[in-house]
Amino acid sequence: MKKFLVSLSLSFITFINCFAEEGMLIPSVISAFESDMQAKGMKLSAKDIYDVNHSSLKDAIMHFGGGCTAELVSGKGLLLTNHHCGYSQIQSHSSLEKDYLKNGFWAKNYAEELPNAGLTASRMVRIDDVTASVMFGVVESESAEKRAAAMRKNMEQLIKDATVGTHYEAEIKPFNFGNHFYIIVKEVFKDVRLVGTPPNSIGKFGGDTDNWVWPRHTGDFSVFRIYAGTDNKPAEYSTNNVPYSPIHFLPISFKNRKVGDFTMVYGFPGETEQHVASGYLKFIVEKERPARIKMREKSLSVIDAAMRSSDEIRIKYSAKQASIANAYKKWIGQVDGLKRLDGVSVKIGKEKEYNDMAATNDKWNGAYGQLVNQMNKLVAEGSEWEFRYSMAIEYLYVGPEFYKLARAIDDLTTNYAKYKEKGELNAQIDKMIKGADSFFKNYDAGVDQKIFDLLTMEYFTQVNVDAESIADVNYVNGLSKAIFAKSILTNKDRYVAFLQKFKEKSVKAIAKDPGFKLYAKLTKDFKENVLPKYQAFDDQMNALLKVYVQGKYEMFPDAKHWADANSTLRITYGQLEGSSPTDGMAYTEHTTLDGIIAKYNTGNPDFELLPRMLEMHKNKDYGDYAQDGELWVCFTGSNHTTGGNSGSPVIDANGNLMGLNFDRTWESTMSDYMFDPNRCRNVVVDIRYVMWVMDKYSGAKHLVDEMVLVKE
Ligand code: ARG
Ligand code: GLU
Repeated sequence: MKKFLVSLSLSFITFINCFAEEGMLIPSVISAFESDMQAKGMKLSAKDIYDVNHSSLKDAIMHFGGGCTAELVSGKGLLLTNHHCGYSQIQSHSSLEKDYLKNGFWAKNYAEELPNAGLTASRMVRIDDVTASVMFGVVESESAEKRAAAMRKNMEQLIKDATVGTHYEAEIKPFNFGNHFYIIVKEVFKDVRLVGTPPNSIGKFGGDTDNWVWPRHTGDFSVFRIYAGTDNKPAEYSTNNVPYSPIHFLPISFKNRKVGDFTMVYGFPGETEQHVASGYLKFIVEKERPARIKMREKSLSVIDAAMRSSDEIRIKYSAKQASIANAYKKWIGQVDGLKRLDGVSVKIGKEKEYNDMAATNDKWNGAYGQLVNQMNKLVAEGSEWEFRYSMAIEYLYVGPEFYKLARAIDDLTTNYAKYKEKGELNAQIDKMIKGADSFFKNYDAGVDQKIFDLLTMEYFTQVNVDAESIADVNYVNGLSKAIFAKSILTNKDRYVAFLQKFKEKSVKAIAKDPGFKLYAKLTKDFKENVLPKYQAFDDQMNALLKVYVQGKYEMFPDAKHWADANSTLRITYGQLEGSSPTDGMAYTEHTTLDGIIAKYNTGNPDFELLPRMLEMHKNKDYGDYAQDGELWVCFTGSNHTTGGNSGSPVIDANGNLMGLNFDRTWESTMSDYMFDPNRCRNVVVDIRYVMWVMDKYSGAKHLVDEMVLVKE
């Protein structure tokens, strides 16, 4: 590790003129980058960013609901994240009467803040390299099972030692395919309430038209508050809980911004795949992504039309639509970008460099000389199983929704004897009946049937399960008619009645249900034929990647190495700047309120506004929130981010909050595979716009008053 850190700082000498920095850095080793960050304008020390013994920026950063990032901004536990990160909570509190999606919501006092069952926010207590302890006593020459068992035992002990006598939770995660391990100790808050949200016409302004695109004008934020027990420790929801008093919260930067300002993003990036083999990238670009894109295109054609036709369906499907559409559009951008830059050839070039370096001495040649070949050979042999796996995910998990209920029933019938023996059967059934409420609240059988018809044809065509599951229109129509007229999975009354009368005989009877029958058949094929082969492919690839990456560290000690994102806390830094996405074209670095009005005037429904915005724009009442007479809405930075960085604070040179990260530009969507410093930009909503919306637009000045504003 030491050697790796030294080589990192040396490598900066060659990079010094390039501001955009590839890499998602582990906070506990950030001191290795301190001098580079300071050279780029940062006024903080590494200890201000991450410290275990004193409060530091890290204590203000929360993993929000496991998928997004949020940050504390007041001494009373006030938490900011993106609108799209709080979207399912906002949607679940919405109804035709209380249409928070359309009109927004602002709690006037603590009592009006809305609880969210199951939502958590986690603070990282510490992140330590435990590679040596995990590998202690693991003998290289022993079988894979024996080594895994020894490692598991070590990890269990480490987790126990890290949490004993505390209310903390801990996990150990592999980095670099298991070349390194880190323990992550965290404090998980379980009472997180919705405080406020702007209407969709602000929080989702631009909708799918603007998603993944610059110039951008989305006020993508929502406001939550962490509650704790009276001892300030995490507690389950209770009316006795009080606002959490944080160790650190971020002051708000009201300083004027300019191109070149230092920016740092601190959050939880989900997944990157910088090391994949050229053959794998080709498989993704030419086969896997296009097939998934096609599946989602079909679902979206149904959902979008239905949402436009009825307000009720619009509310029911808005969160689901957003999530299907988001990855769909990103993939299109990714494929486009990787093709345009000929990513596969770039990879082949890198693989040649790797092989050439390995050929320079016998030791390297023995250890690393064959890896590139082996990886590409494995892709040729096994990627078919990943393709089938991806398609099954798209069909059985993202596609027709009644499969979700089928999985619940499957669990009940499979474990019937066990539940009965343990006396848990009735509780289990009650839970499922309750679950039916929230499922059917957001379900429309007509929409699901159309999705079923289109996706089933596509799935059968693509994966050709067996002779019986033929991609024949009449065959699929027959299935569809039976499932939507008779299955217990597509109608609430039938489903609940089935559960209420559930007895031993039902375990057998369900096999005749047309919906369950199809589910069972396809799931059986998936679990028996696809999953094991896909897992074997994935395991073998990861084993090769582990050695491949080790070779990169060893043979190219002066290159900048960073571990792929894995949903752990990371830091990335760059500056506020625009970009030149294509020859002859430039993106400026910020957008303003005027641009919102200009987009509104195009008449596209994604740019709808409520009358209040037009009025506010006319009055130009920007208060202290403007800069040189303009109200900044969004800006871009050269920070290396990915999914999961949504809601992440973009922090200035002094540790103040400049805005919330929420997206990347179209040309950046490929950065999960390949980062291009000239084109990759993250998209940020300016915190001054966020506060203007709270204060001036929504009349929630009391929230602004909770925060600390830094003007000079
Ligand atoms: N693209 C952003 C992210 O990946 C924002 C997604 C939400 N917006 C939307 N129109 N679906 O999460
Ligand atoms: N919107 C993404 C998210 O929810 C962040 C944008 C990105 O992927 O870079 O995490």
